[in-house]
Amino acid sequence: MFVSFEGPEGAGKSTQIRLLAARLEREGIVHLLTREPGGTDIGGKLRELVLDTRSHMSAMTEFLIYSASRAQLVGEVMRPALERGEVLVCDRYVDSSYAYQGHGRGLDMAQLRAVSEAATGGLTPDLTILLDIDPGLGLGRAARVGEPDRIEQAGLEFHARVREGFLSLAAVEPSRFVTLNGAEAQEPLSEAVWQAVSARWNASRSRDQAGNAHLV
Ligand SMILES: Nc1ncnc2c1ncn2[C@@H]1O[C@H](COP(=O)(O)OP(=O)(O)OP(=O)(O)O)[C@@H](O)[C@H]1O
Ligand SMILES: [Mg+2]
Repeated sequence: MFVSFEGPEGAGKSTQIRLLAARLEREGIVHLLTREPGGTDIGGKLRELVLDTRSHMSAMTEFLIYSASRAQLVGEVMRPALERGEVLVCDRYVDSSYAYQGHGRGLDMAQLRAVSEAATGGLTPDLTILLDIDPGLGLGRAARVGEPDRIEQAGLEFHARVREGFLSLAAVEPSRFVTLNGAEAQEPLSEAVWQAVSARWNASRSRDQAGNAHLV
């Protein structure tokens, strides 16, 4: 099962992924965590490039670097984990490109979809947890963590478009997305995340069992 976490800066994605990983650990469910951009040797180098504040970068270049990093991650790490039957938890995936480079930077969505499809071979999450948050609140949280990177430095209007972008992506695919309020406290939020993940997990396992019973 493939679960992605999405949402604006500082929405609590990394925090909730850490809590989910601890829960999966307790339940004895084998899982793998990845983050974008990065997660591979090449991805690490691309991450430095794309977040660097010193050089000007066009929106299309930014998108292509994220896509290159993603292509590497899918082939090297994500598909193998799914083939081993693990639960794969990804900190950002293609929806971030649609929200940031599409809604935020204004690139053509059809082009983004075509390139993303090629980069991922069409690998789509079974479940996407969208942590929604007011961009002012999220950026304020993120700012406490360290120096702002190139994306965090883009203005509040940009981040407001990103947030709306995520919400409209979720509205178009209600069966894949579960949208939660990132402004809530960590504990109730992690409980809601677990409800969503375990419901999908149980559904996919009973589907598998039904499939096996059919084969026997
Ligand atoms: N529910 C919450 N309530 C209050 N603070 C939170 C909550 N969740 C996370 N935080 C804090 O907000 C900050 C950002 O959280 P986190 O790094 O998990 O967000 P993120 O979505 O991964 O951000 P980024 O997009 O920058 O990677 C951290 O300092 C974290 O401790
Ligand atoms: Mg994070």
